Amino acid sequence: MKKIAVLTSGGDAPGMNAAIRAVVRTALDKNFNILGIERGYRGLMNGEVVPMERESVADIIQRGGTILKTARSEEFKTDKGKKIAVGILEKFQVDGLIVIGGDGSFKGAQELSKLGIATIGIPGTIDNDLAYTDFTIGFDTATNTVLDAINKLRDTSTAHQRVSIVEVMGRNCGDIALYAGLAGGAENIIIPEKGYEEEELCKNVLEAKLNGKVHNLIVLAEGIGGGEALAKKIQYVTGIEARATKLGHIQRGGSPTCRDRILASRFGYRAVELLEEGKTSRVIGIKEEKIIDLNIDEALNTPRKFDEKLYEIAEALA
Ligand code: F6P
Repeated sequence: MKKIAVLTSGGDAPGMNAAIRAVVRTALDKNFNILGIERGYRGLMNGEVVPMERESVADIIQRGGTILKTARSEEFKTDKGKKIAVGILEKFQVDGLIVIGGDGSFKGAQELSKLGIATIGIPGTIDNDLAYTDFTIGFDTATNTVLDAINKLRDTSTAHQRVSIVEVMGRNCGDIALYAGLAGGAENIIIPEKGYEEEELCKNVLEAKLNGKVHNLIVLAEGIGGGEALAKKIQYVTGIEARATKLGHIQRGGSPTCRDRILASRFGYRAVELLEEGKTSRVIGIKEEKIIDLNIDEALNTPRKFDEKLYEIAEALA
């Protein structure tokens, strides 16, 4: 193993830079050459390859986004696109590729490994929707961003004695809503894993008001969506004023938390170690605080487990 390349792909996540830094510095410590591929698989197909040095990753551990930029590429999914990508990797004599991203990016890595490229995946997505790992890079920071918003909405919700709905990202996964909702003391958490009944929700909101609650915070996951319509419905049915706030891409930015920086550093270090050990088609994760790695096919086929207990606690404490 002489030359490693690293790319970030799909939605950016806070902590991706810390992961790039860990990959680059570990690779250099182990006397590998290290290349950065800009703009994900799209950049790879265009040959956007740059050499990386220790200084290339100076002053980035605290920065959100990704210095390598990112993209979502439909063209890469075609046979022609993948062939071009393999051609570029061969041209630059890349012996191993590290992909930092979510499930779409991992599918890309899986395809490349079938075409003979040694690949390692590092999970980087705010959604925390990769079943084989307890946590992904960016999830902790995004959840804290949502928590900050919930705290602020609680102030204004109490002042106006209103219902506040906060709509959060996560694609089809309710983890951001569940964690931030529990930590923020939300009265209701609506996530795709559990669904909800509109009538039941309105009844809860009304009962809470009659029991003396001055605010009512509802965290609504993107996988269910429709915050504005839900606010109108609640207001119409209960007579209590309701407002919806969609946090959007704010959740993707910002300086990574300590937890995300440590996770990214551990993942990045391990990714290079795996390539050094001659392993390929592996993805890295964390299970019960231990760093793990497993075959990429196995990882992508792992059925998602929902944390019922956490939901039960959130319900009990609301
Ligand atoms: O996967 C991260 C994520 O932010 C999801 O939560 C969301 O559904 C999606 O990306 C938004 O994608 P885009 O950046 O293309 O708007």
